[in-house]
Amino acid sequence: MTIVARMRAAGCVFAEDEAALLEATARDAADLERMVRLRVDGLPLEHVLGWVQFAGRRYVIGPGVFVPRPRTEFLVREAALIVAPGAVVLDLCCGSGAVGAALAEAIGAAELHASDADPVAVACARNNVDNVYEGDLFDPLPRSLMGRVDLLVVIAPYVPTDAIPLLPHEARDFEPRATLDGGADGLAVLRRLLEAARRWLAPEGILVTEVSERQVPALVGLVTAAGLEPRVIRDNDLDATVVVGRHTIGRYV
Ligand SMILES: C[S@@+](CC[C@H](N)C(=O)[O-])C[C@H]1O[C@@H](n2cnc3c(N)ncnc32)[C@H](O)[C@@H]1O
Repeated sequence: MTIVARMRAAGCVFAEDEAALLEATARDAADLERMVRLRVDGLPLEHVLGWVQFAGRRYVIGPGVFVPRPRTEFLVREAALIVAPGAVVLDLCCGSGAVGAALAEAIGAAELHASDADPVAVACARNNVDNVYEGDLFDPLPRSLMGRVDLLVVIAPYVPTDAIPLLPHEARDFEPRATLDGGADGLAVLRRLLEAARRWLAPEGILVTEVSERQVPALVGLVTAAGLEPRVIRDNDLDATVVVGRHTIGRYV
């Protein structure tokens, strides 16, 4: 059986495209066979390849790390429009680090810091970003960043616990639960993060995050309660919903 036929039989919808990527990435025939077997066994394509294409660039990724979603490119484009070059960028819950790296590149950031609670994600992100810290939310960050963050980007786990069984099997079976599960309403991690966000943002600094459309009213309430001025941006084609919170200290809104 050809590689395409094996992958089609395993349920890969884009078997031809995926086979071409595996062939282009494999070091030799044995490596190609290893990759095809992993993919046929259901491992996400990006985990098999060892890289993910995001916002026009390739970033290192591996098993056990959340795969950045194409819809998040919308957040990168929108944030790049509202943050000036030379910004200090912090990517919390960074996973592979691709989102922060893409943003820093798009903005022309002066500094990029990233952190994640999962050591596997942190090890992966260190391939893509220089300043990566390991720990819960803001805990591992250098205190010198407090009040200096111009752009705080966070794609936290935001799937409500009850909705986890409805996710595609590649997410359910191959992405750690802690990368997906946002608690009863999907906002548990964001809720904790927002309690501290203002202390880390620079005056006029902004927080950008992504949630589902259904979560917007609750999240806008949390952003407002955190002392940030909320704004919602939506792309229907990508089914992407971005919530922005601006730190407006020192000026009337
Ligand atoms: C949905 S994934 C997003 C990863 C990355 N931002 C992206 O979009 O590709 C959420 C990430 O949050 C991390 N995470 C979950 N709870 C955390 C916490 N309390 N503190 C820091 N990171 C956390 C997970 O390890 C995971 O990498």
